[in-house]
Amino acid sequence: MMNKLLFTLFALIIINSSLQAEELKAEKLKKQDWSFEGITGTFDRASIQRGFKVYREVCAVCHSMNLLYYRDLIDIGFSPDQIKVIASEYTVIDGPNDEGEMFERPARPSDRFVDPYRNDVEARLSNNGAYPPDLSLITKSRKGGADYLYNLLTGYAETEEGSDIGEGMYYNLYMPGNQIAMPQPLYDESVEYDDGTPNNLNQLSYDLTNFLVWAAEPELEERKRIGIIAILFFVVFGVFSFFLKLRLWKKVS
Ligand code: HEC
Repeated sequence: MMNKLLFTLFALIIINSSLQAEELKAEKLKKQDWSFEGITGTFDRASIQRGFKVYREVCAVCHSMNLLYYRDLIDIGFSPDQIKVIASEYTVIDGPNDEGEMFERPARPSDRFVDPYRNDVEARLSNNGAYPPDLSLITKSRKGGADYLYNLLTGYAETEEGSDIGEGMYYNLYMPGNQIAMPQPLYDESVEYDDGTPNNLNQLSYDLTNFLVWAAEPELEERKRIGIIAILFFVVFGVFSFFLKLRLWKKVS
Protein backbone atom coordinates (compact mmCIF):
# COMPACT_ATOMS: atom_id res chain seq x y z
CA MET A 1 0.00 0.00 0.00
CA MET A 2 2.71 2.44 1.10
CA ASN A 3 4.76 1.54 -1.95
CA LYS A 4 1.88 2.24 -4.27
CA LEU A 5 1.33 5.63 -2.68
CA LEU A 6 4.98 6.52 -2.96
CA PHE A 7 5.03 5.41 -6.58
CA THR A 8 1.99 7.55 -7.44
CA LEU A 9 3.50 10.55 -5.70
CA PHE A 10 6.76 10.08 -7.55
CA ALA A 11 4.96 9.72 -10.89
CA LEU A 12 2.94 12.87 -10.23
CA ILE A 13 6.07 14.86 -9.45
CA ILE A 14 7.71 13.74 -12.69
CA ILE A 15 4.59 14.48 -14.78
CA ASN A 16 4.25 17.87 -13.14
CA SER A 17 7.82 18.90 -13.77
CA SER A 18 7.69 17.79 -17.38
CA LEU A 19 4.50 19.80 -17.87
CA GLN A 20 6.20 22.83 -16.40
CA ALA A 21 9.10 22.42 -18.74
CA GLU A 22 6.69 22.71 -21.65
CA GLU A 23 5.29 26.06 -20.55
CA LEU A 24 5.12 28.33 -23.58
CA LYS A 25 7.79 30.94 -23.84
CA ALA A 26 6.97 34.59 -23.18
CA GLU A 27 8.85 37.66 -22.04
CA LYS A 28 8.85 38.58 -18.33
CA LEU A 29 6.12 41.18 -17.60
CA LYS A 30 7.16 44.80 -17.04
CA LYS A 31 5.37 46.00 -13.91
CA GLN A 32 3.36 49.23 -14.07
CA ASP A 33 2.19 51.58 -11.32
CA TRP A 34 -1.57 51.14 -10.80
CA SER A 35 -3.67 53.36 -8.54
CA PHE A 36 -5.83 50.42 -7.42
CA GLU A 37 -2.94 48.47 -5.89
CA GLY A 38 -2.15 48.27 -2.15
CA ILE A 39 -4.59 48.14 0.72
CA THR A 40 -5.75 51.73 0.28
CA GLY A 41 -5.83 51.53 -3.54
CA THR A 42 -8.59 53.41 -5.41
CA PHE A 43 -9.66 53.72 -9.02
CA ASP A 44 -8.44 56.52 -11.28
CA ARG A 45 -11.84 57.40 -12.74
CA ALA A 46 -10.58 59.87 -15.35
CA SER A 47 -8.32 57.13 -16.71
CA ILE A 48 -11.16 54.58 -16.62
CA GLN A 49 -13.42 56.92 -18.60
CA ARG A 50 -10.72 57.37 -21.24
CA GLY A 51 -10.20 53.59 -21.25
CA PHE A 52 -13.91 53.09 -21.89
CA LYS A 53 -13.56 55.36 -24.94
CA VAL A 54 -10.69 53.20 -26.19
CA TYR A 55 -12.77 50.06 -25.67
CA ARG A 56 -15.77 51.57 -27.46
CA GLU A 57 -13.86 52.85 -30.44
CA VAL A 58 -11.41 49.99 -30.92
CA CYS A 59 -11.89 46.75 -28.98
CA ALA A 60 -15.71 46.65 -29.16
CA VAL A 61 -15.48 45.98 -32.89
CA CYS A 62 -14.39 42.41 -32.02
CA HIS A 63 -14.78 41.84 -28.26
CA SER A 64 -17.99 41.58 -26.25
CA MET A 65 -18.30 42.55 -22.56
CA ASN A 66 -21.35 40.55 -21.61
CA LEU A 67 -21.27 41.11 -17.87
CA LEU A 68 -21.59 44.88 -18.12
CA TYR A 69 -24.80 46.91 -18.29
CA TYR A 70 -24.77 50.47 -19.63
CA ARG A 71 -26.14 51.66 -16.27
CA ASP A 72 -22.96 50.37 -14.58
CA LEU A 73 -21.13 53.33 -16.14
CA ILE A 74 -22.58 55.54 -13.42
CA ASP A 75 -19.90 54.08 -11.18
CA ILE A 76 -17.09 55.64 -13.24
CA GLY A 77 -18.61 59.11 -13.26
CA PHE A 78 -21.07 59.27 -16.16
CA SER A 79 -24.42 60.96 -15.47
CA PRO A 80 -27.72 59.10 -16.14
CA ASP A 81 -28.33 61.36 -19.16
CA GLN A 82 -24.89 60.69 -20.62
CA ILE A 83 -25.50 56.96 -20.17
CA LYS A 84 -28.81 57.19 -22.02
CA VAL A 85 -27.04 58.81 -24.95
CA ILE A 86 -24.21 56.24 -24.93
CA ALA A 87 -26.65 53.31 -24.81
CA SER A 88 -28.87 54.72 -27.56
CA GLU A 89 -25.96 54.57 -30.01
CA TYR A 90 -26.25 50.76 -30.00
CA THR A 91 -28.97 48.56 -31.42
CA VAL A 92 -30.38 45.52 -29.65
CA ILE A 93 -32.63 42.81 -31.00
CA ASP A 94 -35.68 42.53 -28.75
CA GLY A 95 -38.92 40.65 -28.89
CA PRO A 96 -41.00 38.81 -29.75
CA ASN A 97 -43.63 41.54 -30.17
CA ASP A 98 -47.42 41.01 -30.41
CA GLU A 99 -47.04 39.53 -33.88
CA GLY A 100 -44.34 37.11 -32.72
CA GLU A 101 -41.62 39.01 -34.56
CA MET A 102 -38.20 40.01 -33.23
CA PHE A 103 -37.48 43.70 -33.70
CA GLU A 104 -34.59 46.14 -33.39
CA ARG A 105 -34.54 49.07 -30.98
CA PRO A 106 -31.92 51.43 -29.53
CA ALA A 107 -30.27 50.07 -26.38
CA ARG A 108 -31.31 51.37 -22.96
CA PRO A 109 -29.27 51.86 -19.77
CA SER A 110 -30.78 48.59 -18.45
CA ASP A 111 -29.36 46.60 -21.40
CA ARG A 112 -26.12 44.67 -21.37
CA PHE A 113 -23.25 45.90 -23.56
CA VAL A 114 -24.24 44.96 -27.10
CA ASP A 115 -22.23 42.14 -28.74
CA PRO A 116 -20.24 42.88 -31.89
CA TYR A 117 -21.27 39.59 -33.51
CA ARG A 118 -24.60 37.75 -33.65
CA ASN A 119 -23.00 34.47 -32.50
CA ASP A 120 -19.71 32.60 -31.97
CA VAL A 121 -19.60 31.29 -35.54
CA GLU A 122 -19.79 34.78 -36.99
CA ALA A 123 -17.11 35.91 -34.50
CA ARG A 124 -14.74 33.16 -35.67
CA LEU A 125 -15.51 33.67 -39.35
CA SER A 126 -14.57 37.34 -39.04
CA ASN A 127 -11.32 36.56 -37.24
CA ASN A 128 -9.60 33.93 -39.29
CA GLY A 129 -11.01 31.12 -37.12
CA ALA A 130 -9.85 32.60 -33.77
CA TYR A 131 -12.37 33.61 -31.13
CA PRO A 132 -12.04 37.06 -29.54
CA PRO A 133 -12.76 36.30 -25.86
CA ASP A 134 -15.27 38.31 -23.84
CA LEU A 135 -13.35 41.03 -21.99
CA SER A 136 -15.58 41.40 -18.89
CA LEU A 137 -13.29 39.33 -16.67
CA ILE A 138 -10.14 39.21 -18.74
CA THR A 139 -7.88 40.86 -16.13
CA LYS A 140 -8.88 38.10 -13.70
CA SER A 141 -8.62 35.23 -16.12
CA ARG A 142 -5.06 35.79 -17.28
CA LYS A 143 -1.93 35.25 -15.21
CA GLY A 144 -0.36 38.65 -14.51
CA GLY A 145 -3.75 40.46 -14.70
CA ALA A 146 -3.43 44.18 -15.42
CA ASP A 147 0.31 44.01 -16.13
CA TYR A 148 -0.18 41.18 -18.61
CA LEU A 149 -2.85 43.10 -20.47
CA TYR A 150 -0.76 46.28 -20.62
CA ASN A 151 2.29 44.39 -21.82
CA LEU A 152 0.27 42.42 -24.38
CA LEU A 153 -1.14 45.59 -25.93
CA THR A 154 2.26 47.26 -26.09
CA GLY A 155 4.18 44.06 -26.87
CA TYR A 156 3.78 43.66 -30.63
CA ALA A 157 7.11 43.52 -32.41
CA GLU A 158 8.76 42.61 -35.68
CA THR A 159 9.06 38.86 -36.07
CA GLU A 160 12.38 37.63 -34.79
CA GLU A 161 14.81 36.16 -37.29
CA GLY A 162 14.11 32.45 -37.66
CA SER A 163 10.94 32.31 -35.53
CA ASP A 164 8.06 30.30 -36.88
CA ILE A 165 4.86 32.32 -37.07
CA GLY A 166 1.67 30.64 -38.26
CA GLU A 167 -0.54 31.86 -41.12
CA GLY A 168 -2.61 34.87 -39.98
CA MET A 169 -0.74 35.08 -36.67
CA TYR A 170 1.13 38.06 -35.22
CA TYR A 171 4.30 38.18 -33.18
CA ASN A 172 3.83 39.37 -29.59
CA LEU A 173 6.50 39.24 -26.89
CA TYR A 174 4.08 38.61 -24.02
CA MET A 175 1.54 36.17 -25.48
CA PRO A 176 2.44 32.67 -24.28
CA GLY A 177 4.10 31.06 -27.31
CA ASN A 178 4.79 34.51 -28.80
CA GLN A 179 2.04 34.38 -31.39
CA ILE A 180 -1.50 35.73 -31.30
CA ALA A 181 -4.37 35.78 -33.80
CA MET A 182 -5.27 39.39 -32.93
CA PRO A 183 -3.61 42.03 -35.13
CA GLN A 184 -2.11 44.91 -33.13
CA PRO A 185 -5.23 46.85 -32.05
CA LEU A 186 -3.69 50.05 -30.67
CA TYR A 187 -1.15 52.51 -32.07
CA ASP A 188 -0.08 56.03 -31.08
CA GLU A 189 -3.09 58.34 -31.56
CA SER A 190 -5.60 55.55 -32.37
CA VAL A 191 -8.15 57.32 -30.16
CA GLU A 192 -8.67 61.06 -29.65
CA TYR A 193 -8.90 62.19 -26.01
CA ASP A 194 -11.07 65.20 -25.08
CA ASP A 195 -9.19 66.09 -21.89
CA GLY A 196 -5.77 66.81 -23.38
CA THR A 197 -4.11 63.64 -22.06
CA PRO A 198 -1.40 62.45 -24.48
CA ASN A 199 -2.78 59.64 -26.61
CA ASN A 200 0.33 57.60 -27.29
CA LEU A 201 0.23 53.80 -27.33
CA ASN A 202 1.38 53.46 -23.71
CA GLN A 203 -1.24 55.87 -22.37
CA LEU A 204 -4.06 54.30 -24.42
CA SER A 205 -3.07 50.84 -23.16
CA TYR A 206 -2.78 52.09 -19.59
CA ASP A 207 -6.25 53.69 -19.61
CA LEU A 208 -7.83 50.72 -21.34
CA THR A 209 -6.34 48.38 -18.73
CA ASN A 210 -7.70 50.55 -15.91
CA PHE A 211 -11.13 50.29 -17.52
CA LEU A 212 -10.96 46.51 -17.78
CA VAL A 213 -9.77 46.11 -14.16
CA TRP A 214 -12.74 48.18 -13.01
CA ALA A 215 -15.08 46.11 -15.21
CA ALA A 216 -13.82 42.85 -13.72
CA GLU A 217 -14.02 44.07 -10.14
CA PRO A 218 -16.17 47.19 -9.72
CA GLU A 219 -16.42 46.52 -5.96
CA LEU A 220 -12.61 46.65 -5.46
CA GLU A 221 -12.66 49.95 -3.50
CA GLU A 222 -15.47 48.73 -1.27
CA ARG A 223 -13.63 45.47 -0.61
CA LYS A 224 -10.49 47.34 0.46
CA ARG A 225 -12.46 49.79 2.61
CA ILE A 226 -14.22 46.98 4.46
CA GLY A 227 -10.87 45.22 4.86
CA ILE A 228 -9.37 48.24 6.62
CA ILE A 229 -12.43 48.60 8.87
CA ALA A 230 -12.23 44.89 9.76
CA ILE A 231 -8.53 45.16 10.64
CA LEU A 232 -9.15 48.28 12.77
CA PHE A 233 -12.00 46.49 14.53
CA PHE A 234 -9.80 43.54 15.44
CA VAL A 235 -7.00 45.82 16.68
CA VAL A 236 -9.38 47.75 18.97
CA PHE A 237 -11.09 44.53 20.06
CA GLY A 238 -7.70 42.92 20.74
CA VAL A 239 -6.52 45.79 22.97
CA PHE A 240 -9.86 45.83 24.77
CA SER A 241 -9.74 42.05 25.41
CA PHE A 242 -6.19 42.33 26.70
CA PHE A 243 -7.08 44.91 29.35
CA LEU A 244 -10.24 43.03 30.24
CA LYS A 245 -8.19 39.90 30.78
CA LEU A 246 -5.73 41.79 33.04
CA ARG A 247 -8.62 43.07 35.11
CA LEU A 248 -10.47 39.77 35.42
CA TRP A 249 -7.37 37.82 36.40
CA LYS A 250 -6.06 40.42 38.85
CA LYS A 251 -7.55 38.72 41.91
CA VAL A 252 -6.37 35.26 40.85
CA SER A 253 -2.69 36.01 40.27
C1 HEC B 1 -9.99 42.79 -35.37
C2 HEC B 1 -10.57 42.20 -34.19
C3 HEC B 1 -9.98 42.54 -32.83
C4 HEC B 1 -9.83 43.79 -32.25
C5 HEC B 1 -10.18 45.15 -32.85
C6 HEC B 1 -9.32 43.56 -30.93
N1 HEC B 1 -9.13 42.21 -30.72
FE1 HEC B 1 -8.43 41.32 -29.04
N2 HEC B 1 -8.55 39.50 -29.91
C7 HEC B 1 -9.01 39.26 -31.19
C8 HEC B 1 -8.87 37.85 -31.47
C9 HEC B 1 -9.27 37.17 -32.76
C10 HEC B 1 -8.32 37.25 -30.31
C11 HEC B 1 -7.95 35.79 -30.10
C12 HEC B 1 -6.45 35.66 -30.25
C13 HEC B 1 -5.91 34.27 -30.11
O1 HEC B 1 -6.61 33.40 -29.60
O2 HEC B 1 -4.75 34.06 -30.54
C14 HEC B 1 -8.13 38.32 -29.35
C15 HEC B 1 -7.60 38.13 -28.09
C16 HEC B 1 -7.51 39.11 -27.13
C17 HEC B 1 -7.08 38.91 -25.76
C18 HEC B 1 -6.70 37.59 -25.13
C19 HEC B 1 -5.23 37.31 -25.20
C20 HEC B 1 -4.91 36.03 -24.46
O3 HEC B 1 -4.14 36.09 -23.49
O4 HEC B 1 -5.47 34.99 -24.81
C21 HEC B 1 -7.12 40.12 -25.14
C22 HEC B 1 -6.77 40.43 -23.69
C23 HEC B 1 -7.56 41.08 -26.12
N3 HEC B 1 -7.78 40.45 -27.32
C24 HEC B 1 -7.73 42.42 -25.84
C25 HEC B 1 -8.09 43.36 -26.81
C26 HEC B 1 -8.19 44.78 -26.52
C27 HEC B 1 -7.95 45.42 -25.16
C28 HEC B 1 -8.55 45.38 -27.68
C29 HEC B 1 -8.75 46.86 -27.92
C30 HEC B 1 -7.63 47.72 -27.65
C31 HEC B 1 -8.69 44.34 -28.69
N4 HEC B 1 -8.40 43.13 -28.11
C32 HEC B 1 -9.06 44.57 -30.02
C33 HEC B 1 -9.50 40.19 -32.08
C34 HEC B 1 -9.53 41.56 -31.87
